[in-house]
Amino acid sequence: MKETVLNKFKELFGDGDGVHVYFAPGRVNLIGEHTDYNGGHVFPCALTIGTYAAVRKRDDRVLKFYSMNFPELGVIETSLDELTPSDAAGWTNYPKGVMWAFAERGMKMDRGLDIVLNGNIPNGSGLSSSASLEVLTGYYLKDLYGFDVTNIDLAKIGQYSENHFNGMNCGIMDQFASAMGRKDHAIFLDTADLSYEYAPLVLDGAKIVVTNSNVKHSLVNSEYNVRRSECEKALEELQTVVSIHGLGDLTEEQFEAYRSAIKDEVRVKRAKHAVYENQRTIRAVEALKNNDLPLFGELMNASHVSLRDDYQVSCDEIDVLVEEAWKVDGVIGSRITGGGFGGCTVSIVKDEAVESFQAQVGAAYQERVGRKADFYVVEIGDGPSRL
Ligand code: GLA
Repeated sequence: MKETVLNKFKELFGDGDGVHVYFAPGRVNLIGEHTDYNGGHVFPCALTIGTYAAVRKRDDRVLKFYSMNFPELGVIETSLDELTPSDAAGWTNYPKGVMWAFAERGMKMDRGLDIVLNGNIPNGSGLSSSASLEVLTGYYLKDLYGFDVTNIDLAKIGQYSENHFNGMNCGIMDQFASAMGRKDHAIFLDTADLSYEYAPLVLDGAKIVVTNSNVKHSLVNSEYNVRRSECEKALEELQTVVSIHGLGDLTEEQFEAYRSAIKDEVRVKRAKHAVYENQRTIRAVEALKNNDLPLFGELMNASHVSLRDDYQVSCDEIDVLVEEAWKVDGVIGSRITGGGFGGCTVSIVKDEAVESFQAQVGAAYQERVGRKADFYVVEIGDGPSRL
């Protein structure tokens, strides 16, 4: 990947000094879904797939972007004086948003850039290609302009730019997982205060298999923002009877005691998911520490049911993938991962069952949905780097 992106850079922008290549990973979330904007816990890990960039400073204020994933768009030219979002800017709204967010914090770029990108995260798969692009941008800005930011700052800046420049009210999980990833570890993050802990994830005798449904329903951004406001409203209602900062502050028992304060059945279901999912995540990490993979798997399955029935962010295609996965011998757990409405599932599968898992689930998906599923046996990698 490094050579490919570098060669493309030379072809488009010429050879010479000062070109550097950077990488930032995508992520998969093992458990803790839709908890990150509710002050709850998440348990994602960075992947070894992600986004690569070859970058060089220019002598003027021009920005030239080229993505090997969208060659039909050619070189997209803009400038440091035009850091505003627009539909026409397409994918460049992500890096531009990060540049804008740095400038908002007083970190202004004095010279433009030539940038060539190449990513190996399937687009729209829910494995956070956008967060990886945001963290990648922040990382090369820090390196090339000497901005004084930590990797946690990069996660915050990425989320800020996505919220305020790209109009997606996401939580911090994806950017945090990309910026803070560590090889063979998942990150147990408390989004209430950003305290975190790395949990070793060398699964003895099992693999993490990501299955791409190859569907992405257009609801994703709008429904995401709706879920978020439903949770905010439920929180306000609960705050009339109990003093809490987020839904993540409640145990299941407390939630059951106070739920009647929420005046709408749909909001009760949303809040219930947020509370129970947070507790499941805490328990799942505990199970992993105790080497209890079967319990970890059960909690993953329960997470799916809750996302399907109470949070209602699954879809038929994903439900087929998960149901079929549950039927396969050697599957420890399987659930939807990421924002929902398509994208991927994540499954933990015993080594000896990985092949039959792909064959069985792939065939059933083709038969029931009429589509091909893609399978990735993923590895857990490090956060961003200069290569
Ligand atoms: C998307 C968002 C994250 C998180 C997940 C759901 O990936 O970007 O912040 O809310 O959905 O867990």
